[in-house]
Amino acid sequence: MNRYIPTLAACITMLLTLTPSAAATLPSGVKKSHYGTMPDGTVIEQYRLTNANGIVAKIITYGALMTELHVPDRQGKLGDIVLGFDNLESYLKGHPYFGATIGRVGNRIAKGKFTLDGRDYTLARNDGPNHLHGGIRGFDKVVWKAEIVPARNGAAVRFTYVSPNGEEGYPGTLTATVTYTLTDTDELRLDYTAKTDQATPVNLTNHTYWNLAGGGDILNHVLTINADHYTPVDDTLIPTGAIAPVKGTVMDFTTPMPIGSRLLSLDNSPRGYDHNYALNDSGKGMRLAATVYEPGTGRVLETFTEEPGVQFYSGNFLDATLEGKGKTVYHQYYGFCLETQHFPDSVNHPNFPSTILRPKKTYKTATIYKFSVK
Ligand code: GLA
Repeated sequence: MNRYIPTLAACITMLLTLTPSAAATLPSGVKKSHYGTMPDGTVIEQYRLTNANGIVAKIITYGALMTELHVPDRQGKLGDIVLGFDNLESYLKGHPYFGATIGRVGNRIAKGKFTLDGRDYTLARNDGPNHLHGGIRGFDKVVWKAEIVPARNGAAVRFTYVSPNGEEGYPGTLTATVTYTLTDTDELRLDYTAKTDQATPVNLTNHTYWNLAGGGDILNHVLTINADHYTPVDDTLIPTGAIAPVKGTVMDFTTPMPIGSRLLSLDNSPRGYDHNYALNDSGKGMRLAATVYEPGTGRVLETFTEEPGVQFYSGNFLDATLEGKGKTVYHQYYGFCLETQHFPDSVNHPNFPSTILRPKKTYKTATIYKFSVK
């Protein structure tokens, strides 16, 4: 049977495109599958993104959250480097934002109160006296709509959520999107957009807990943060308003330091790091925010962002009460987060970069997590 005889032109094209390295790669792509069902019958889908080098990321429509991310170690062996669960039921029981998209406003708003254009607003309080990560039912707990979208250099899926006017106390109907792109150059890129019909604060981020060793505590991970300043906090983790130098303090990660080396000498946050760093070169577009190196596996995570800040959280509140993937118990410091963001409580600090989005404007920001080994 004459099934397919390549033309001469097709042969030449194949020879030109099959360079030795390209020949060894896999096609990147997206696969959609059924993940679970919400109590009200809503189906939750999972999107499996793969790239040319075998990296796999899995994201579900519940919370637009990343459940798994498999990247190679120094030997080329794949390992899952994010915390999470094996099934939807576990996510629904409650968890500290594993892998989730956070909104409408990530981080804290003091006493859940702010004034905008002369009007006072009161938001849900879900963290002692404060509002945290969008409230009681933030963007991490809603069902997003997903669509596979074209990507120039990899595979991509876009998630959309329409947050109604008044949700958790926020003004205006807000349409938010987050697009996860896994590139063939080993980056996971998160592009966020939002539109509103009334002025509202917006601060979207991702709350992945990383563990580059694939398990155990993260205290030996070596961290560098591209920030000469941070925003000191009170004992409810609300910024005092100061933008203080890190130099000479345990907050200083301008040179590589093991996360655990000075962890217990922190003021106000005695369990560990839970602080916003004011990144250098704010307003200058995409730039390196942080680098993390895990000496055992050789894995390196670089975080690039367009945001002015990053919350570095050392997994302080993990307390061995959650059993995650493969029955792993998550003890304190078993994962860390790098939540790229505008500064906490910005709505109440005119000296911080503004988080206010107005009608007709588009909120647009991106963060890139890049994986390599050394
Ligand atoms: C953020 C906060 C922390 C904590 C975690 C979730 O990182 O800053 O204080 O609430 O989320 O446990």
